[in-house]
Amino acid sequence: MAISRTSLRKTLSKFVENSVLLTGRSNPQLAHDIAKLLHQQMFEPISSFADGEIRVRIPQNMRRRHVFIIQPTSTPVNDSIMELILMIDAARRASASEITVIIPYFGYSRQDRKERSRVPISSSAVTNMITNAGASRIITLDIHSDQQQGFTTIPWDNLYGSYSLLPAIKSEKISDLVVASPDKGGLLQATKYAKLLNASGVALVYKQRDIEVNNKSEAMGMIGKVRDKRVILVDDMLDTGGTLVKAAKYLLNKGALSVRVAATHGLFSGNALAIINSSEIEEVIVTDSVRLRPEVLKNKKIKVVTVAPLLAKAVHHIQTGESFSKDLIL
Ligand code: R5P
Repeated sequence: MAISRTSLRKTLSKFVENSVLLTGRSNPQLAHDIAKLLHQQMFEPISSFADGEIRVRIPQNMRRRHVFIIQPTSTPVNDSIMELILMIDAARRASASEITVIIPYFGYSRQDRKERSRVPISSSAVTNMITNAGASRIITLDIHSDQQQGFTTIPWDNLYGSYSLLPAIKSEKISDLVVASPDKGGLLQATKYAKLLNASGVALVYKQRDIEVNNKSEAMGMIGKVRDKRVILVDDMLDTGGTLVKAAKYLLNKGALSVRVAATHGLFSGNALAIINSSEIEEVIVTDSVRLRPEVLKNKKIKVVTVAPLLAKAVHHIQTGESFSKDLIL
């Protein structure tokens, strides 16, 4: 991580004095890795009552402090959200001056529009809960759609997993590379990766999602040329793995030499691991934005890169008032 020692020294004492770092139970390892890079203490204030209710008790004075809460709202999604809301509420009632919530993975972000009648915009509802609880700023990582920042009027900075994923992809020195997106929404992102990787092209695999059935999609067609190319499929998340495995199969049928995957959030729900293991995908690179199960970490096809340096820098930049776009947005 390239936070300079002088800059760290200058701000460290003020920073430690004025900040409190908290994490819920959804990805404490990531939170501790961030705290270690910042040379700060990370508090874990959550426990449970016998009936399953969440209990928050923060041992640190927060009066006029800047509180940073790190909590991906990943599985168990609803518990993770509730832990986040209660930590914000505790910090606000304890007179924190600012409450920055760092949500590396934002649960419900795929439900970001009214795609048919009589459905909620769940991502907006969750954002309202976070805002109403008292958060003063939101930081996310590869939020499913950038326009979700408009669901609230508090500042919302979205960072990109490419900051951590690109060095890992580059280190593989893949020749004849084409970057592909498994859906229309990811085309801009794929184009950005292609440019930064100096790839020979971009491809788009269309999919048609059956909105009557959760997590079901079909690859339908593609734009771009992949024959005799090595493809890297980029996506914001891998949930059941269905989207990426189908897209990979389609690309191989169209003459691609190999298919790798880079996805920011590795949810690996259901039998995603088995599906990926039995697929022709060569490698899957994900970040540690959500807590990864031991069997995911041990899997030979899966490479994990950390987003801790990126998020530690984000905390540091908020403290020092430095611009994010200068060195955090790739
Ligand atoms: C969809 O719009 C997302 O970008 C992902 O492609 C999708 O959520 C992945 O889900 P699954 O792995 O279950 O196909």
